[in-house]
This record gives sequence, C-alpha cells and structure tokens, in this order.
Amino acid sequence: MNSPFSRIGVVGAGAMGRGIVQLYAQCGHQVVLHDMQKTAIDAALAYLHDTFSRLAEKGRMTPEQAQAAIGHVSAADSLQDFAGCDLVIEAIAERLDVKRQTFIALEEIVGPDCVLASNTSSLSITAIAAACEHPGRVAGYHFFNPVPLMKVVEVVRGPRTSAQVIDRLVELSRVAGHTPVVCQDTPGFIVNHAGRGFGPESLRVLHEGVAEVPVIDRLLREQVDIGGQGFRLGPFELMDLTGLDVSHPVMESIYHQYYEEPRYKPSVIGAQRVAAGLYGRKTGEGFYSHAGGAQQTPAEPPAPALPAGLRVWVAPGEMRDAVRELVTGLGASLDEGSAPAADSLIVVTPLGLDATTAARGLDASRVIALDTLFPFGLRACKRRAIMSTPATLPAVREAAHALFAADGARVGVLRDSPGFVAQRVVAMIVTIACDIAQQQVASPADIDVAVRLGLGYPLGPLAMGDAIGPQRILAILAGMHEVTGDPRCRPSLWLQRRAQLGLSLLHEE
Ligand SMILES: NC(=O)c1ccc[n+]([C@@H]2O[C@H](COP(=O)([O-])OP(=O)(O)OC[C@H]3O[C@@H](n4cnc5c(N)ncnc54)[C@H](O)[C@@H]3O)[C@@H](O)[C@H]2O)c1
Repeated sequence: MNSPFSRIGVVGAGAMGRGIVQLYAQCGHQVVLHDMQKTAIDAALAYLHDTFSRLAEKGRMTPEQAQAAIGHVSAADSLQDFAGCDLVIEAIAERLDVKRQTFIALEEIVGPDCVLASNTSSLSITAIAAACEHPGRVAGYHFFNPVPLMKVVEVVRGPRTSAQVIDRLVELSRVAGHTPVVCQDTPGFIVNHAGRGFGPESLRVLHEGVAEVPVIDRLLREQVDIGGQGFRLGPFELMDLTGLDVSHPVMESIYHQYYEEPRYKPSVIGAQRVAAGLYGRKTGEGFYSHAGGAQQTPAEPPAPALPAGLRVWVAPGEMRDAVRELVTGLGASLDEGSAPAADSLIVVTPLGLDATTAARGLDASRVIALDTLFPFGLRACKRRAIMSTPATLPAVREAAHALFAADGARVGVLRDSPGFVAQRVVAMIVTIACDIAQQQVASPADIDVAVRLGLGYPLGPLAMGDAIGPQRILAILAGMHEVTGDPRCRPSLWLQRRAQLGLSLLHEE
C-alpha cells in the first residue's frame, strides 16, 4: 500500500465514524478510534468485528485479511492517543461549537504536519478552520452513508486550506477505492447542493395540489427515462427513508446559507410534518405508512374503459406527428381539421407551460396536456403523464386516461402544473447543477460524478441536461417562468450560454 497517511485517527464512533474506520482498516491503515462515550466505542468495535467476520464468511476477504483488518483498529480513551497520527478525521455531532472545540484540542496534541479533516455535511469548513492556529491543515472530507458502499467522497477546500492537504486526501481516497471529488467550501458542497432540485421541487408540486404523493413518486421513477433509467426512488420515498427530521433541516440550512435563494426554498409541508413527528420509516409514518417496517403504497386505481368512437385533435407543435401516431395506435380516430371539431378531445404538448396556458384559443373544457419530454410512443414507455385545466370536463379527463393507458402503460393524471411533474423536477435539477458549475464550486465532470454516485441518479445532472437537450431544458424553465413569474425558474447563465452556443453542459471554458 502506497498511502499518503500511515496512522489515521477517527473521532466519533457513530454511523459515519465506524464506516470510515472500516474503510481504512480494510486497506491496511492503522486506525485509532475515539468517542466521548465509551459505550459508543465498544459498540463500534463489536460492529467492526462482526462486519469483518461476515465479509470473510461471504468470501469478500480471506479470514487472514479479516483478522489483519480488525488488528489495525485500536480504541483510544482520550484524544491524547492521537499524538502519532498524521491524519485525524472528525465525525462527531453536527454542531459548530463542538467541532471547533475538538479541533482546538487536537491541535495541541498532534504534530505540525497532521491533517485535520471534518466529515460535516452542512457546516462551513472555513468556520471550523478559523478556530485553528493552522487553518491550512484543515479540510472537509465528506463521506456518504454507508461509507464502504457509497464510493464517493467530497474533498472540501476552504479558502485557507493548503493545496498539498487536498492532494493528499485525494490520493488517500483512491487508495481506499473511493472516487474523490474536489470542491470549494460552499453550503451543501456538491451533492447536498445539487440535491435541492429533487425534493424541494417535488414538495412544491405537492404543495400546489398537482397530484398525490404516490402519483409524483411513480412518475419520477417510471416516466423519467434517461438511457432506459429513471430515478431509483421517488422523492417522497427517499425522504421517508432518510427521515424528514434529517432532510427538512438540511433544506432550511442550505436555503438560509444561500441568503434565501428562491431555488432552494423549503416547503411548509416539510416543516409541518416534522413538527408532527411524521419523519418516515423511523417513526412508522411519513408520506407513506411504514407499519411493520415496510412502505405501504396505496394500490393504483385501474384505468377507466376506453369510450367508443373517441376522436382526437392534436395541437400543432414539435411533437404533433408523433402524438398523432400514438393516438391512432391506441385506437382513437384523428380529427385532422385545422381547428378541433366540436366533440373532439384536444391534446396539447406543452414544455414548461401549464395546460391552461397551452389551451389559449382552444375550448379548455376539452383540453388535455400530454408530457412528451421522455419517450411516450406506443408500447415505448412504462408510464405517461397527462394533466387537465381547471375547466377540463371530468369525462374528458377519464377518456384521455383510458386512451393513454390503452397499450398497457400506466398513466399519472395531474391537475394543472407548469411543467407537469417530471419536466419541472428534471429542469430544476439541471439548472441547479449548472449554477454549481457557474459558481466554480467544482469541475463539471466532478459535479456529475459526485451526484451520480452520491445520489444514485441515472446520469449526472449535466449529462442528463445534455441527453434531454440544453435548449429543451431552457424552454421548460422559460415556460415555468412565464406561468409563475417565480425567480426560482430563471435559467442558469451556464445553461443559457451553452444552449445558445450549442455546447455541452459539461463544456468548461
Ligand atoms: N449520517 C449520515 O448520513 C452522514 C453522512 C455524511 C456526513 N455526516 C456527518 O458526520 C458526522 C457524524 O454523523 P453520524 O451520523 O455518524 O452521527 P452519530 O450520532 O451516529 O455519531 C456521532 C458520535 O459522535 C460522538 N460525539 C459527539 N460529540 C463528541 C465529542 N465532542 N467528542 C467525541 N465524540 C463525540 C457521539 O457520542 C456519537 O457516538 C456529522 O457531522 C454528520 O453531519 C453524517
């Protein structure tokens, strides 16, 4: 092993500390673990013992390697035992005062070249380093839970962090088989900043009464199709899994740290549900019930029967021919008139606009909007999204539901929304990632790799924008902005310029 560090101290033996100890003990480092609670150290050592034994039983390491790994770990009753460490990683309580005290204490014990790293998710590395005599040795080193399986780590540079410290942490990550991404010390770093698109925008969809929770989750899992993949979990399923007691404060913290940037605005729904103790799986009740430990998802009602003799008029637009082909393939007849006949169902295909705006000049009582951003053709998708205007007749909505489900696809039926569900959530994800690139928090390639590995998205957000097309993302945001006037929908400068110049969103100057 050719590592830049030989003896690593870890403070904090909770979920993260024990994962970090496992990672480095496993690849041959001497690791010293301290926690202010003796019981936490004992529990972590027992956990590590079990984990290494299980890995050996499963054949992932030999019994000798398991023995060696556990032999690399030692427990420290006090921070004094960190004297010989050349790196200390702090993973204690998420409180600035407590972390600063720990760093001040460590500086009195360790040698002058020892690097001090914090695993904080939301605190400023700069504010922690400011308490130190040698802030140049302080960096963020942000792992994800569970540490050995989440193979990405953010190496966070404060304005005074030395370049050599960053280089050594990058190298150490690679030794352990993790992908390091270097970023500037900014609220949420890369991953928790980029994550502001998914949850907060989905909460806004819910807040606007566009659809119920399972409908939104299903659309983001099954309608979104980027190279054959959608999001692995819906936003509400994810919030239930993480716990709203954790994710809502992160939303609030990032929003305030960015001086109330409207893109990151948290939801009243989140605040209320936290106050009510509806955290998700850990409390048995969240956006879903988790009675018995498993998420209880309400069954999806079956699609209504297709009425006989349905005639459809498709409004002009980029997708008109493809929608006409779909509609006939699904068993309706086409109204080919230059204007819709009096009894035709009218299909509009807006990007970023709501159905009401797209219905301008048409009889809104017969208008249905179909989302055409992702594959929607005959037998070409799992799920389609349709939405109605407030004036659309219930019978028209039912007929459209039946029609668009006629090839076995499921249909998410929405009330009016600027950008359905998938368009607006994906456009927010892309534009926020573009802002992160514009602000030079990290390189475009590192933004994409961090988000793909840290959040499990099918592609990094910039590559996702490229796959959909920067001009289309721009059109969605422009539509959303036209309808809502909300500054959160303004397109990122990074996106505008690249869309205008025909460049990839991963293009760096
Ligand atoms: N849990 C996650 O998903 C996650 C992910 C990334 C980063 N983080 C960050 O990692 C850090 C630790 O999180 P966690 O989930 O492991 O917490 P945890 O509550 O599971 O463990 C924290 C441990 O630190 C100990 N501790 C607290 N104050 C201490 C002190 N002054 N000195 C010594 N020990 C002290 C506690 O006794 C406890 O055992 C936090 O900064 C958190 O923001 C957490």
